[in-house]
Amino acid sequence: MDFNQLIYKRQSVRQYTDKKVEREKIDLCLEAGRMAPSACNSQPWTFVVIDDDTIKEQVASATYNSVVSFNKFSHQAPVIVAVVMESVNLTSKIGTKSTDIDYGFIDLGIAVEHFCLQAADIGLGTCILGWFQAEKIKKILEIPKNRKIGLLITLGYAKEDTIRVKNRKQIDDMSFNNKYCKK
Ligand SMILES: Cc1cc2nc3c(=O)[nH]c(=O)nc-3n(C[C@H](O)[C@H](O)[C@H](O)COP(=O)(O)O)c2cc1C
Repeated sequence: MDFNQLIYKRQSVRQYTDKKVEREKIDLCLEAGRMAPSACNSQPWTFVVIDDDTIKEQVASATYNSVVSFNKFSHQAPVIVAVVMESVNLTSKIGTKSTDIDYGFIDLGIAVEHFCLQAADIGLGTCILGWFQAEKIKKILEIPKNRKIGLLITLGYAKEDTIRVKNRKQIDDMSFNNKYCKK
């Protein structure tokens, strides 16, 4: 698919069919994540693919609580991927210290978007989840205490294939030529 079409096709999918996701398709998405760029090529991510129904239900239940309920839809997704933040390598650490920019989380975000774009290209829907009960999910997935989950991704076949109009800032509100012109 043409890249420009793909970026419009990728959208947050919050309604899924029951259709199982083929393992080869999950592997293609993982490969796209693997190929993502990262500061000092640190690659500080591990993708945990959750396709076992029992474990997936437990993880889905930890994506919301009685106050924050917008992620309840994750129960519908046949697959949830937890993206774990690994330690960055020494050069990236030094870079982060000297610039005060957390390259690790930037890297993880780029890898997640690679994954989601690949998914969209092969007809799968995704939604990136930044809200979840991290400690509960770490216990379920046996993630060590000293690791953080950066993001979750729901993955599956979308119930609807309509491409929504994207609600985005205008180009003039998010880019300038030569000088930063925001007051
Ligand atoms: C870091 C991050 C965290 C997000 N967390 C959630 C979330 O917890 N629940 C949710 O439904 N969507 C979440 N989203 C999806 C955004 O709401 C969505 O990308 C945005 O509204 C733009 O819509 P689109 O993805 O359909 O283009 C998250 C997206 C990002 C990048």
